[in-house]
Amino acid sequence: MLNIGKAAVLGAGTMGAAIAAHLSNAGIPTLLLDIAPREEDAKDKNQIVKSLFEAAKKLKPAPFMLADNANLISLDNFDEDMPKLKDCDFIIEAVVERLDIKHKIFSQVEKYAKPTAVIASNTSGIPIESIAEPFSDDFKKRFMGIHFFNPPRYMKLVEVIPTKDTDGEIACQRFSAKRNTTARVRVIEVFRHATQHRFPGSLRLCKSSGSLPEMGLRQGDKTNSARAEESRT
Ligand SMILES: NC(=O)c1ccc[n+]([C@@H]2O[C@H](COP(=O)([O-])OP(=O)(O)OC[C@H]3O[C@@H](n4cnc5c(N)ncnc54)[C@H](O)[C@@H]3O)[C@@H](O)[C@H]2O)c1
Repeated sequence: MLNIGKAAVLGAGTMGAAIAAHLSNAGIPTLLLDIAPREEDAKDKNQIVKSLFEAAKKLKPAPFMLADNANLISLDNFDEDMPKLKDCDFIIEAVVERLDIKHKIFSQVEKYAKPTAVIASNTSGIPIESIAEPFSDDFKKRFMGIHFFNPPRYMKLVEVIPTKDTDGEIACQRFSAKRNTTARVRVIEVFRHATQHRFPGSLRLCKSSGSLPEMGLRQGDKTNSARAEESRT
């Protein structure tokens, strides 16, 4: 079981802000980061993340279970605040769907994340192995795809997509919040047909950990798979 004392979400757009909201719903203090304004003399480097977060707070249906959960989220920017990742147990990236940009962000993650942090990308379409490719073996062990569906609070489904290098124990553990054990972030593994096709090693990795029954994983669960396919955006 991975205890998440603190999390970070990189990218505060449609998915990032809503994933941060859902981590806060589980009682997890979360950093939410996005780009700083381009103008060098911009007074507020957090202007973009602030405006994205304000927009997320107004969404219907609401991403927050309680409005006060928003207080668990701190707003930061990529220019100044990446060193704060050193305190995070779980880091998930949800920036724009471009491999070069994801590589740039993860090079900072590799530099600042603590050695035990679990690191993930929420990409919908970029192969997870190609995101991990430039990084160290240690990074690759702790890296996987964790694909939330939109809207994360309401889509009770998350795809966990290990690569052939991901440590099977890490990929198969259940995530829980240290501070609020009643509101766990449940990670349900659904190895859809397409995922297995793209990442043939993923199923083998998880089988070898021996922790699947504990997670309640139903391999090839057609109901969940079909639901995932229908709701993919
Ligand atoms: N929208 C969906 O339904 C959905 C569902 C599941 C997964 N995803 C995946 O989530 C990720 C984010 O998608 P989204 O829909 O939230 O996108 P979005 O456009 O709403 O947000 C992207 C974020 O990236 C930031 N960004 C832009 N340029 C950047 C740069 N140069 N460096 C760093 N950050 C930059 C933007 O400021 C923005 O906050 C993508 O990988 C996408 O494939 C999207």
